[in-house]
Amino acid sequence: MPEKPGAYPPLHHAPVMNSFSNSLVSSSVPLVAGTGGSSSFELSSVAFFGRSLAEYARFFSLDFEALRGCAVLDVAAGPSAFTAGAARLGVRATAVDPLYGCSPDALATHVRLDYARVVARMRERPESFRFKSFESIDEAERDRRAAAEVFLADYEAGFLDNRYVGGALPRLPFADAAFDVVLCAHLLFIYERLFDYGFHLAACRELVRVSRGEVRIHPVCGPDGRPYAGLARLRADLAADGIGSDVIRVDYEFFRGSDTTLVLRREMT
Ligand SMILES: C[S@@+](CC[C@H](N)C(=O)[O-])C[C@H]1O[C@@H](n2cnc3c(N)ncnc32)[C@H](O)[C@@H]1O
Repeated sequence: MPEKPGAYPPLHHAPVMNSFSNSLVSSSVPLVAGTGGSSSFELSSVAFFGRSLAEYARFFSLDFEALRGCAVLDVAAGPSAFTAGAARLGVRATAVDPLYGCSPDALATHVRLDYARVVARMRERPESFRFKSFESIDEAERDRRAAAEVFLADYEAGFLDNRYVGGALPRLPFADAAFDVVLCAHLLFIYERLFDYGFHLAACRELVRVSRGEVRIHPVCGPDGRPYAGLARLRADLAADGIGSDVIRVDYEFFRGSDTTLVLRREMT
């Protein structure tokens, strides 16, 4: 983990938004969508679906003691409990998502609709999961709904406090090297059919731009649980930019094949 910063840097260039949009639907995230029609665990649009602090700790291999006082950015954060929970542990956590800026009621509606469609898809394809972290889909659903409640309870105050910031890859509203650690879960690779290779490369470069330490991206598989097909090319293109990468195995796997995390860092010249 990176050393603690001496001073808290300005977090981002974006104008501070202190009022909510009345809009329910973000232009980049379709709200109403059917479940995927393929044989893999594929969704036909990005879901506003989130996980608990404990899940983040496991799939990103986080040491909260080492992160105390560090500035951590969660990208594509959704309705996850990470930012609220990490802040309570002394981490200076910020979350960014294209849907932040919607009203609390609108986000609660996104949660209601998207949880229904994701859980329905999970029940259609139980063979896509390993029942070690959770004993059943029911247990995973309860845990993730609880995580969404933690997020919803924190969202309004956190948005006004600029801890929840509206923004989307591949262009984030933050200064270069603004964060010690940058996290991104369940957007890249897993929706590989919705985002082309160019988007993945631009997104990785952007995550590295806003980090002065590490970037961690989880999982490194597509919706079929196989490693992302463009991974070797992506790592080679990033290396040509001076960005080093490692794929680390993590002590977590619910969705089959999702037990790895990609770590990126700018190499010293
Ligand atoms: C499945 S959720 C993941 C939430 C959380 N990171 C987790 O792992 O539990 C994916 C999130 O990506 C957001 N999203 C969609 N397009 C995005 C983009 N271009 N840049 C950043 N986030 C995006 C969605 O709004 C949604 O909240």
